[in-house]
Amino acid sequence: MSLLDLATEVRPRAYAPYSRFKVGAAIRTPSGATYVGVNVENVAYPEGTCAEAGAIAAMVAGGETEIAEILVIADSPSPVPPCGGCRQKIAEFARPDVKVTLCTTEGAHKVMTVAELLPGLYTAAHMAKA
Ligand code: THU
Repeated sequence: MSLLDLATEVRPRAYAPYSRFKVGAAIRTPSGATYVGVNVENVAYPEGTCAEAGAIAAMVAGGETEIAEILVIADSPSPVPPCGGCRQKIAEFARPDVKVTLCTTEGAHKVMTVAELLPGLYTAAHMAKA
């Protein structure tokens, strides 16, 4: 199944009673396995989690730690970009050239790389003097 089909299928299961903005995400790893996630909001708003974070958590729980490709979809006017925190979360498990596909439910999409989404990435190398 394609990442687009997987993310489209899971998106309605998002728990988004506060924003009413349901997001679905799907990851493929180098093994070919796929993992999905949805945003899960909370009445204490900052406690909500993004779809990308959910998919990453599922991947790690599945025993894998490398993203080969990731796709995110929402009913937004333009292809939905991952938030800043999720860009850093994706970068933890993806090389800079990994493809991130941003989609709308209407069929628009934009393909970017991890490096394009997060220039100046903070890495463990920045702690070298610690
Ligand atoms: N959201 C995601 O899950 N992923 C994104 O890429 C953008 C935003 C969620 C967070 C929140 O639950 C809702 O969308 C509104 O911001």
